[in-house]
Amino acid sequence: MTDWQTGRKILLGITGGIAAYKIPALVRLITGAGCEVEIILTRSAENFVTPMTLATLAKHKVWRDDDFRDSGYEIPHIKLADWADVIAIAPCSANTLAKIAHGLCDNLLTSTVLAASCELLLFPAMNEKMFTNPVTQGNIAELSRPGVKIIQPSEGRLACGVSGKGRMPEPCDIFLEIMRALCPVHDMSGKRVLITAGPTHEYLDPVRFISNPSTGKMGAAMARSAWFRGADVRVIAGPVELDSYGFEVIHVTSALDMLREVKANIEWADYIVKAAAVGDYRPRDYNANKIKREGKDSLTLELIQNPDIAAEAGRLKREGQILVGFAAESEHLRENAREKLSRKNLDYIIANDITGEDSGFAHDTNRVTLISRDANTPERTFTGLKQDIAFEIWSALM
Ligand SMILES: Cc1cc2nc3c(=O)[nH]c(=O)nc-3n(C[C@H](O)[C@H](O)[C@H](O)COP(=O)(O)O)c2cc1C
Repeated sequence: MTDWQTGRKILLGITGGIAAYKIPALVRLITGAGCEVEIILTRSAENFVTPMTLATLAKHKVWRDDDFRDSGYEIPHIKLADWADVIAIAPCSANTLAKIAHGLCDNLLTSTVLAASCELLLFPAMNEKMFTNPVTQGNIAELSRPGVKIIQPSEGRLACGVSGKGRMPEPCDIFLEIMRALCPVHDMSGKRVLITAGPTHEYLDPVRFISNPSTGKMGAAMARSAWFRGADVRVIAGPVELDSYGFEVIHVTSALDMLREVKANIEWADYIVKAAAVGDYRPRDYNANKIKREGKDSLTLELIQNPDIAAEAGRLKREGQILVGFAAESEHLRENAREKLSRKNLDYIIANDITGEDSGFAHDTNRVTLISRDANTPERTFTGLKQDIAFEIWSALM
């Protein structure tokens, strides 16, 4: 949970699509993030998910279509429209999409949408033929206007038994889209960010490698924050699990792979953030077959140095590109970081104390100092959750 998420007001509309059965999981994510939620179900949605389940998870009543006319002197659609910071409709049926596109407002949900001035996120989900039908596509085109974002369904197996385009994104991905809409700044819209993250694996035979404990969390946090702020994000990721929704991810294994991909993608980027923990050394020789233990009491490995990817990026970067490095240090933090900043031609370095109990590899929290090549820019130290630190770092860089 980050500061800017707490207390934000999300109005969640649910319509009559089969994917509605997944929405209780979304409600849990929303409340878990400290946001407030109000839920409106269409009459048809109640065939797919129950008001009782949703009310139990939201911890308060949900809005049913009967409330539209039965709320006495209160006018719920106006009250809810004014209350919301963002409206998300998931799943959004072809029927509701058509109504919203043409300003129809014959139920509580569509009336609320028409009365609202906040951002509207629509997650259409339906059978592929319904989705590709020119009428539905025409409605989507009609809704392509400021203040409305239509999140394209993905391809895959659909509830009707066929495969095709029409699947609603998973609840965790819908949650991320809502957070992106709620992000207090979108100052990175149109900016392209290239981030390296995670460890590298330097194989000595098909089953053994040399690596480090990096989990890629800090790189992932930098990527997610940039995406929340509107950037296009490309991640070059070492072998690590990464929440990659919204990013273009290039998977690599070794330092040499990572160097190749950084060189291939650097031209594309406005910002390059080198958050990966790249192995400094790799085995000189790679054994194509598994090294057997039998007959060997010890094994001597000769290691050779890998190329310095940050320094190579520093050589390649063009006018206007901003290159940010990380320095994971266990001693002389600032001195070592400053030396790397100038030797590698970086614009900023983020000095990362890996000795602290709450910082460095694998932790959700960190303690970092942002140092600029511009001597007039004071150093800034950030502590806390990696996702919050990432947000602060981007604020400092913008
Ligand atoms: C079993 C079943 C599954 C359905 N699934 C979808 C769906 O995934 N997407 C969709 O747009 N409509 C779907 N429909 C059709 C909608 O429920 C129907 O158009 C309804 O009028 C939508 O009402 P609403 O937009 O007010 O919720 C389904 C209908 C049935 C009976």
